[in-house]
Amino acid sequence: MSDKKRQILVTSALPYANGAIHLGHMLEYIQTDIWARFQRAQGHECYFAWADDAHGTPVMLWARSEGKSPEELIDMMNEEHKTDFRDFGVSFDNYSSTHSEYNREQVEKIYHRLDEAGYIERRNIKQLYDEKEGMFLPDRFIRGTCPKCGSEDQYGDSCESCGSTYAPTDLINPRSAISGNAPVLRESEHYFVRLSDFEQRLKDWMGSGALQPEIANKMQEWFTDGLRDWDISRDAPYFGFLIPGTEDKYFYVWVDAPVGYVASFRELCEREGLDFDAWWEPGSTAEVYHFIGKDIVYFHTLFWPAMLMGARMRTPTAVYAHGFLTVGGAKMSKSRGTFIRARTYLDHLHPDYLRYYFAAKLGPGTGDIDLNLEDFVARVNSDVVGKVVNIASRCAGFIQRNFDGMLAQQLPQPELYDSFIEQRQTIAADFEGRNYQSAVRRIMALADEANRYIDNEKPWQQIKQEGMEAHVQAVCTQGINLFRVLITYLAPILPFTLHKAGEFLGRDLQQWQALDQALLGVKINTFQPLLTRIDPVKIKAMIEDSKESLQPATATGNEPASQPAEEDLTDEITIEEFLKVDLRIALITAAEAVPEADKLLKLSLDIGGESRTVFAGIKSAYDPAELVGRHTVMVANLKPRKMRFGTSEGMVLAAGPGGSDLFLLQPDEGATPGMRVT
Ligand code: MSP
Ligand code: ZN
Repeated sequence: MSDKKRQILVTSALPYANGAIHLGHMLEYIQTDIWARFQRAQGHECYFAWADDAHGTPVMLWARSEGKSPEELIDMMNEEHKTDFRDFGVSFDNYSSTHSEYNREQVEKIYHRLDEAGYIERRNIKQLYDEKEGMFLPDRFIRGTCPKCGSEDQYGDSCESCGSTYAPTDLINPRSAISGNAPVLRESEHYFVRLSDFEQRLKDWMGSGALQPEIANKMQEWFTDGLRDWDISRDAPYFGFLIPGTEDKYFYVWVDAPVGYVASFRELCEREGLDFDAWWEPGSTAEVYHFIGKDIVYFHTLFWPAMLMGARMRTPTAVYAHGFLTVGGAKMSKSRGTFIRARTYLDHLHPDYLRYYFAAKLGPGTGDIDLNLEDFVARVNSDVVGKVVNIASRCAGFIQRNFDGMLAQQLPQPELYDSFIEQRQTIAADFEGRNYQSAVRRIMALADEANRYIDNEKPWQQIKQEGMEAHVQAVCTQGINLFRVLITYLAPILPFTLHKAGEFLGRDLQQWQALDQALLGVKINTFQPLLTRIDPVKIKAMIEDSKESLQPATATGNEPASQPAEEDLTDEITIEEFLKVDLRIALITAAEAVPEADKLLKLSLDIGGESRTVFAGIKSAYDPAELVGRHTVMVANLKPRKMRFGTSEGMVLAAGPGGSDLFLLQPDEGATPGMRVT
């Protein structure tokens, strides 16, 4: 096999800390994990380190709307994300957060080096500012009419209708997506990295084979268009790292996000006593690979290598981009129940099923990958369970019952075993080149061969014939050895099944080198089902659960311009329309029945110094006395309505079909009267 021990660091793109992990993310993390596990199985020193992407405006706004500190929220998400990954068998060596001291140290080091070398320029620019919120607005938080085609309600950086890109200041009638107000132009000083200084070095790097051909082509276009300076600062308020020497300027989240790769590895080095510099100094012989989605290529093939070059650090060996996950041929959708969270999947299905399916579909390119649920069930059941696991279960019983668990001393057909292990190089080359689908195809062809061998021998008949016992033991030993080769080839893909197979055969099965020696004359353990068939009922349940997790999105959006919108709620309203509804926390200070109306209670509400009277149709559900002192949510800007017994100045929010089945909304503790609900 490979003669030289390589030193390899692999990373995946850091998921944003303000959202749950979904199967789209898992496509990438499984792709990366298979590669890392494959490298380790070849005996290489391979680490997988990454982190949560914790900074930026969306996290700041989320924290504000939750009335919590960003730190509290990102810590909670970090735990959730890590648990999801572990339960999917992702074998990371370190999982950190970009909001860490390790990262601050690396970001500041890189910044100082860039600055000292003269790559950073400071100049004033004018940007849209929300006076009500007291903040500059990121492009994604500005909406208005497209200057090119006139479509209303477009983002500040690009039009989803005609596809053109523009500056937010070009928008007609711009609005803040946070307050709904018209923003004003305001000047402030920004920091820029002069990307054009790196053009030649980026071209050289691109020529070194670091990129897939389609990505290299894309980069060529960017060079032709000319490299523009990169704005790396953001004004307060922002959740991020302060730029050293300033009091109100922060590093843009996309500065410290990729540095998170380095910082997470640094943390690992300290824990494990590894030599950090040997990996990150220029001229390092260690290899560094970034696995990413095709939507964030620009950041990884221009900004990131330029930063590393400017900071006199080594550049990535390669950046590998993959396509997007669709479910049932369409974008994942919350209303159809195909926006499936990692946790929802795990509640119903075994992680190895999805790992196998993704592997069977992943190639080296950037094409999209479809999760077709019928195909998923059919393939996993027929390939993994029906072909591979089946070989072991067909042979194990005889060895156990008739030979006390002992394998024969010799293989009846050593040349068949040899033909299996001869494919090691070819299959390894497939994994190395991220052509997992090709590896899977070859492995399944071998599984067919192994099953044919057993079909021809028919040990279940042979065992009944006199004098055939030794032969049956040999045939089953052959079968189990072929199974061992297959499961070792599949080890990077099926870690949980591999572990069980290891218990069955009484040894670790990961190292490909170990296949040199067949398993002969040793005792094996009782066979336990390694993996069972997918029950289609579970798929239905998972889809149903995914529908239930439909929740209104908070008023946040992610930052990269190309961030795909992954929801398609029916009856959409715009964020501006939603923000017109002024929802407030209200304290119920008094409540009484309205004698003339059989449904109504008259409520007195305190919304922070202002008091309101509301007539609410909740009489059959609540005793007025039990309501006094409770907090609830009210619509505070509803047009007052004259009723027979007085004027109703708003509306309280309750859930349920009505009558006695009504549940008044109640905020978590800590919300105080008058707080705006967003
Ligand atoms: N935080 C940035 C990455 C910073 S890396 C220095 C980000 N986060 S993300 O949560 O939006 O996406 C994380 C990764 O998941 C990205 O590589 C993205 O392409 C990938 N995917 C997100 N949705 C996906 C699909 N539906 N399908 C496949 N990959 C997807 O971008
Ligand atoms: Zn347009």
